[in-house]
Amino acid sequence: MELILDTADAQAVHELSEMLTISGVTTNPTIITRSGKTPEQVCAEMDEVLAPEQKLFVQTVSTNYEGILAEGRQICALRTNVYAKVPVTHDGLRAIKQLKREGLGVLATAIYSADQAFFAAMNGADYLAPYVNRMCDYGDGIQAVRELQEMLELNQLPAKVCAASFKNGSQVHELIRAGVGAVTVPPDVLYAMLDHPGTKVAVDEFNAAWSAAFGRDTFA
Ligand code: E4P
Repeated sequence: MELILDTADAQAVHELSEMLTISGVTTNPTIITRSGKTPEQVCAEMDEVLAPEQKLFVQTVSTNYEGILAEGRQICALRTNVYAKVPVTHDGLRAIKQLKREGLGVLATAIYSADQAFFAAMNGADYLAPYVNRMCDYGDGIQAVRELQEMLELNQLPAKVCAASFKNGSQVHELIRAGVGAVTVPPDVLYAMLDHPGTKVAVDEFNAAWSAAFGRDTFA
């Protein structure tokens, strides 16, 4: 499974990439506008902190076919290992089909149902981003992604589910259990999954016992 960061924060990407096995970064227009930086700045900073093998996913903004296509091509020229994120509107689905004909990397995004994702996979999308938390406003987002996994396997479609829009660690946990190919997680949700008060208590106990016995807090 690929662990991806859903953020425009290059410092967080750097720190988490040092600590964990991170396969890339997703952004979207909201994430970029909230960062207070221009899209060019965000892309340049990401290119600086990401290793060549780490992927960058950048979303198209235009809503018509020609615009999505032009932006998809621009995004895919930004660096190697880059994917255009394209919302699964009618124009978006058409653009996904064309971008894939041109051999470019595509992540189908703003997915609210297994069916939308499945049809984007039929168009050749490399990744499918179901918005798990937002889907829960309409039903059981986690179950919908399980069904999507099943539909892709039955039809032998190679698209990877990149589950997205997480608001807590249990949603991420359930999707990892469901066997998705990737999850994209905001840094705060990921830190909440990493940190357990018990770990600190255990480490403090070990250190207190060691210092009391040997008068130092290092091994030798
Ligand atoms: C990722 O690819 C999506 O753009 C993102 O996870 C959407 O999350 P949100 O529901 O927090 O906007």
